[in-house]
Amino acid sequence: MSRIRNIVILTGAGISAESGVPTFRGPGGLWEGHRVEDVCTPEALAADEPLVQRFYDARRAALNAVTPNPAHEALARLDAAWPGDLLIVTQNVDDLHERAGARRLLHMHGELRSALCRACGERSSFDRADMAAAPPCPRCNARALRPDIVFFGEMPYGMEQIEAALEQADLFASIGTSGAVYPAAGFVQLASAYGAATLELNLDESAGTRLFDQSRLGPASKLVPDWVETLLAG
Ligand code: APR
Repeated sequence: MSRIRNIVILTGAGISAESGVPTFRGPGGLWEGHRVEDVCTPEALAADEPLVQRFYDARRAALNAVTPNPAHEALARLDAAWPGDLLIVTQNVDDLHERAGARRLLHMHGELRSALCRACGERSSFDRADMAAAPPCPRCNARALRPDIVFFGEMPYGMEQIEAALEQADLFASIGTSGAVYPAAGFVQLASAYGAATLELNLDESAGTRLFDQSRLGPASKLVPDWVETLLAG
C-alpha cells in the first residue's frame, strides 16, 4: 500500500443506489417511464423541451428526499485525509458526494443542481423547481437555461483534468458503474496503460470487470468503507 500516492476514483449510479437514487440500467432503471437515453440527447431537448425540462426538474426535486450513504461518507473521509493527489470523478449528477463533504470532485456528466445557458455557456448553480420558468441567465440575461447535464453525444466535462490525473495515478478505483458508457468505461485501460493498479468495487460483474487487476463484488455501503479503512491504515 505504501507505494500508492496518487489515486483516481470513478463513481457511477451504484454508489448512490443505497441512498435511494435509482440506477439507469438496473431493474427500476426508468425515470418517470422514460429510458434516460430518450430524454438525455440534444435532439430530445429540441423536439420536446417541456418534457425534458420536466424530466430533470423531477430528478432535481427528488434530491431533497435522499441523503449520502456510508460509501459517499467514506470517500469524503479519504478525500480529507489523503496526503497525495486524489480525484473523485463522478458520472453521477446528484450532489451526494458534496453533501458528504467531498472536495476534490469532478462531475463529468454535469449536475442536476446547475443550469447551463445556451446563449453564453455560463454554468450557474440552480435549485428551483421549474427551470422553464426560471429567471434569465445571471451573466447574459438571455432566457436560455437548460439542464447542465452532459447529453449523449456531447463532450463530458473535465476530460483534460481527468486524463492528466490518470497519467499520474498509482491506483484507479471504479465504484458502482456498469462500464456501459464511454469515455468513463475506458478509464481503466488508460490507468493500466500508465501503470496504475486497478480495482473495481461493484454489486455485480460489469462490462469492464475482466479489465481490472482486482474486482470485489458487493454493496458499496459495505465495500467502500472497508476499502478506505485499509487505505488509510497504510
Ligand atoms: N453498490 C454497488 N454497486 C451497485 C449497487 C450498490 N448498492 N447497486 C447497483 N450497483 C451497480 C450495478 O451493478 C451497475 O453495474 O451500479 C452499476 C449501475 O450501472 P448503471 O445503471 O449503468 O449506471 P452508470 O454505470 O453510472 O451509468 C453510466 O450512463 O445513462 C448514462 O449518463 C448516465 O452516468 C450515466 C452513465
